Amino acid sequence: MGVYKVRNHFFGTKTHSVIKKYSLSPVTAVAHSNIALIKYWGKRSVEYNLPAVGSISLTLDALHTKTTLQFGETLKEDQLILNDKEATVPALKRVSNFLDMAAGSSDRPKAKIISENNFPTGAGLASSASGFAALALAAGKGLGQSLSDEALSRLARMGSGSAARSIYAGFSEMQLGAKDDGSEDFAIPLHDENYWDVRLLVAVTSDEKKDLSSTEGMMRTAETAPYYGRWVSSHPNDMREMKKAIAEKDFEKTGELTEHSCFKMHGLAMAAKPPILYWNAATTETIHRVWILRKNGIPAYVTIDAGPQVKILCLPEFVEDVEDALSNIDGVRSVIEAKPGPGAYIMETVNETII
Ligand code: PMV
Repeated sequence: MGVYKVRNHFFGTKTHSVIKKYSLSPVTAVAHSNIALIKYWGKRSVEYNLPAVGSISLTLDALHTKTTLQFGETLKEDQLILNDKEATVPALKRVSNFLDMAAGSSDRPKAKIISENNFPTGAGLASSASGFAALALAAGKGLGQSLSDEALSRLARMGSGSAARSIYAGFSEMQLGAKDDGSEDFAIPLHDENYWDVRLLVAVTSDEKKDLSSTEGMMRTAETAPYYGRWVSSHPNDMREMKKAIAEKDFEKTGELTEHSCFKMHGLAMAAKPPILYWNAATTETIHRVWILRKNGIPAYVTIDAGPQVKILCLPEFVEDVEDALSNIDGVRSVIEAKPGPGAYIMETVNETII
């Protein structure tokens, strides 16, 4: 056990210092990635990372991040190993800032973090979602805080908006808060991973890191896309309809709303100046193949995030048909099949020190 001092801790009307305890033992957390069926795009505050719209997502069993974090009394700087490599300076800075927020101070103990994704990082497969959800959980535990799911989701959101949803299993909703301090901006669970056996097939069309981060993309869109206001104002209706469709297990409606939200978001981003296009040729070809499948009576629907991968929502009995349709597309490198997955959790096995 170690201790650190948080200066300027706000208490009532006065600020003062408080002493906080933290653990010197390693903590390992696992969080699964999630894919938004109703998309989030745009921030009402970049500083607090507050979304401009709510979102609804599905947490996936097949894609996860495993993060081990250990605070050390003798460490001078944070250290981040991402997928077996020393992380880049910007990635380390983002993680260090996040740990400052989690600890409530930059005078916190420094940490070593080892994080691994079982899928390509930063290529539109929601690695920041699973990454920051796992980090929030590991940091909270390492800092000796006992955080509710709501508090964890709020903390994860500060790392990445979509991470707020990866705290939960299955279907979850990122709520749109009204307050400026972000206290109401956290996700809530809708239905767990056993509620509805749907599948999401991920057609990987590139494993390169995207050129434009989602934050930059969102800011440019909000500043320059002429329909941004309509995106924000029409969004609550998409949220309402999607919650109803999922509650009724209406697959067709869920699929239609998923595709609608995806194209609404990408159309909006394409209307930014300069335009934002995350797709490649295989992305477009995959969309058309899925639409041909649908014409032939196979209910399958696409969704795409800030990257070129296409995610196809279907029912278990149609997985083979969708895989067949994807198998001969030039540029589709692999297809990952995912089911609804679990929420974030701590691995309770005794971990060896990593420092
Ligand atoms: O949480 P971020 O900053 O990675 O943004 C996520 C944006 C989308 O993936 C495109 C949509 C979403 O709601 O996940």
